[in-house]
Amino acid sequence: MTGKAALTTLEQDAMLAAARAAMDKAYAPYSKFHVGAAVLDENGRIHAGCNVENAAYPQGVCAEAGALSAMVLAGGSRVRAVLVMGPGEALVTPCGGCRQKIREFAAPDAQVLIAGDAHIRASFTLEQLLPHSFGPEHLGK
Ligand code: THU
Repeated sequence: MTGKAALTTLEQDAMLAAARAAMDKAYAPYSKFHVGAAVLDENGRIHAGCNVENAAYPQGVCAEAGALSAMVLAGGSRVRAVLVMGPGEALVTPCGGCRQKIREFAAPDAQVLIAGDAHIRASFTLEQLLPHSFGPEHLGK
């Protein structure tokens, strides 16, 4: 569908830059864990998001969710790739809920790139992160 073509270095660099700028804007006074995400849509446009926490903790929103909202608002409808940037030693992979949110708009072979501050540290397909998933097709969409 939309995941197929490998990302160019230019696209990867643009996603890194967008995620880094978003990470700098994160509102994370409780966890102090700043995350940025960048989504590459079917038209080659990049949409960014940051995590936005809340004093009522469960109401916080992940960076990936913000980036997906930005994509939909801009008229994008398919996700070619997602890049998530976060701090620390462990890979900041999308949480379960965000994997499902990405699934709504992405093919199984869409790339999910995990980055530290400066570079991409790991690359997965959505299928690897969310195997045997439920999606729009189950509802005839
Ligand atoms: N977080 C994200 O925004 N994306 C991820 O992929 C992992 C976790 C946020 C949620 C919360 O604001 C903070 O990181 C700590 O869990």
